Amino acid sequence: MRHSEGGSAELPALFPVTGPEIRPGAEPVLLVEGRAEAWLTMLPAGSVQLVYVDPPFGTGKRRESSAGAYDDPAAHPREYAEALRPLLELLWRALDERGTLLVHLDHHASHYVKVLLDDTCGIGAFRNEIVWCYNGGGVARSDYARKHDVILRYAKGEPRFHVVRRPYKENTQAVGRHSTYAKEVAIDLARGTPLTDWWTDIPTVTGWNPERVGYPTQKPLMLLERLITTCSDAGDLVLDPCCGSGTTALAARRQGRMALIGDRSPAAVAVSAERLQAAGEVFRRVRWPEG
Ligand SMILES: C[S@@+](CC[C@H](N)C(=O)[O-])C[C@H]1O[C@@H](n2cnc3c(N)ncnc32)[C@H](O)[C@@H]1O
Repeated sequence: MRHSEGGSAELPALFPVTGPEIRPGAEPVLLVEGRAEAWLTMLPAGSVQLVYVDPPFGTGKRRESSAGAYDDPAAHPREYAEALRPLLELLWRALDERGTLLVHLDHHASHYVKVLLDDTCGIGAFRNEIVWCYNGGGVARSDYARKHDVILRYAKGEPRFHVVRRPYKENTQAVGRHSTYAKEVAIDLARGTPLTDWWTDIPTVTGWNPERVGYPTQKPLMLLERLITTCSDAGDLVLDPCCGSGTTALAARRQGRMALIGDRSPAAVAVSAERLQAAGEVFRRVRWPEG
């Protein structure tokens, strides 16, 4: 057995997260079954370095797939954002003085949530609106097909940030110079070009994708690994309170980070546990009393 299980837990017994219980040597992943707003109140302020949260987007659809389901009720985006406020405030509080908050949304309410985050985190804390473009799925007949999500990045202080580079396109490689550079400055072709805030190279987890575990709206490991390597350091603690199938924890472990993840859905927690186990990860699983 590679993981330990607890019944209802007291977070103070598992934390401080900077203490021995969650540092390497004990379980580097803690998986909490419970409503995030209930258990996050027990998390000491400033105890995590990176938060990624991928809540239901307010689509008005019940999200159902072979390994689980969750409700995503429709709401006016203003009400949707208000309902998310307590969670976002707790997440911002949980971050240390150089911590980063990543909020994954789509067109339904990202505009209202951005205003809310400007209030909660401060306008100066806004760093990026990352646009993740993808293909597949249904196509609207009377609108442009909506094929992107938005990830809002807010950060405290001088945030951790590691530039990711991608190879130059073939024509740039051929010319060997960047058009915006002074004529005599040759670009370093081997280094590649820094990534922009719009990403088109990460496919969704659909169809026969081997990553697919059957949890609705599962996000790709490549997306999470990119966010985690860019916005945190090795050994950091990454928090995802709406973890679904546990993608964030797997990506964090693959990149040498620790993970604190949770979900209110028992099915999501079961899938996350299975995935972690299959990957050979050591983790602790606790159930948080309903609150
Ligand atoms: C979009 S899915 C997350 C998918 C995940 N990123 C993945 O890759 O599988 C949203 C999840 O948030 C969970 N959730 C919604 N509200 C929650 C809350 N208040 N506390 C904890 N989990 C919540 C749902 O049960 C659902 O599993």
